[in-house]
Amino acid sequence: MRIAVHGASGFTGSLVVTELVRRGFTPVLVGRDETRLRAVAARAAILDPQIRVARLDDIDALAAAFADTDAVINTAGPFTRWGEPVVRAAIAAGRHYLDTTGEPAYLQHILTTYDEPAKAAGIAVVPAVTDDGVPGDLIAALTAARLEAPPAQIVIADLRRPGAASRGTARSMAAIMVDEQIEYRDRAWVSVHESDTTVHEPGEATPVAVSPLALPGVYTIPRHLDVPVVRGVMRTEVGVLFAALNAEVAETLPEAPDAAERAASRWCMLAEATDVNGARVRGWAGGVDAYASTAVIAVEAARRLVAEGAPAGTLAPAQAFDAASFLTYLAGTGMTWQVEEVATV
Ligand SMILES: NC(=O)c1ccc[n+]([C@@H]2O[C@H](COP(=O)([O-])OP(=O)(O)OC[C@H]3O[C@@H](n4cnc5c(N)ncnc54)[C@H](OP(=O)(O)O)[C@@H]3O)[C@@H](O)[C@H]2O)c1
Repeated sequence: MRIAVHGASGFTGSLVVTELVRRGFTPVLVGRDETRLRAVAARAAILDPQIRVARLDDIDALAAAFADTDAVINTAGPFTRWGEPVVRAAIAAGRHYLDTTGEPAYLQHILTTYDEPAKAAGIAVVPAVTDDGVPGDLIAALTAARLEAPPAQIVIADLRRPGAASRGTARSMAAIMVDEQIEYRDRAWVSVHESDTTVHEPGEATPVAVSPLALPGVYTIPRHLDVPVVRGVMRTEVGVLFAALNAEVAETLPEAPDAAERAASRWCMLAEATDVNGARVRGWAGGVDAYASTAVIAVEAARRLVAEGAPAGTLAPAQAFDAASFLTYLAGTGMTWQVEEVATV
């Protein structure tokens, strides 16, 4: 299997390249800077690296770089700035497209704008194949499926702890934190009207303070679940740190968190589904080192699109993949997930 990694020279891209090699797949490293791409290939001990130099302002060159691959994983962010030409090139080349965005406006733009073009090209476009995008969407699907009555609301919470963020993440968060927060209410995407609240973190006695954030699930979950309300929240302690970022501050951060910081970091995506009678089910998925997890998730997502197929068009993770099967694969790599009934409120 040959998988193009656009943005392979970056931190996340290099982890995706390493994960592709670990899985026995052939990475095709695509980007604007040959020297940086070759350095990543050398660090991954690839003997005969497939390197393709193509710039974002040359869609034909990008499409040519993707032409002899099976799928494209795009890791070059901020996606609001650099993402769209890569989607267009993947569609022009007729190759499945996946990316590691966490930027809500970009995600929604791609999901709504490129559905028909992706269908016409016969490919799947699955944005946000990350540690929050995929587990958040899949665990929400499984959690809602356990309700006995129709769902009234889904809350998804990103409970990652502070620390271990890359410069690329900081750049992207600085770009999105200035946007107003969005939630799905009465079956429409509207400005958030909820304020800070708390959720119960698995295994913790004290409730966690959380603040509204338009996580990918706010846009992806309504695509496969008939639910009137989807809200996204993030641990307030982390949200405050992201809110303090701006483009200037982001540039002062190291390119990548060091290995010890990554190994000590934890992520957890929680979904709480409440039905029309007030019954509640919750589920969560989590692990260590969100960036390593993202690489594992992105590569497995690409493998499934290529080997197992998916409907053509823009897809939420739960539309592209069997939720339990995907999460069970992740459990085999050291991540955990669980769904449980909580209480009737
Ligand atoms: N959970 C999540 O939401 C999650 C998890 C992981 C990553 N991400 C996202 O993934 C993205 C990458 O993060 P990172 O830490 O890997 O960032 P990074 O190390 O800064 O890498 C950025 C990549 O984008 C490329 N790039 C930047 N500007 C470009 C341009 N004008 N033309 C072509 N390529 C360009 C860079 O190429 P050069 O080397 O040539 O500069 C590099 O390969 C971020 O948006 C981050 O938020 C999200």
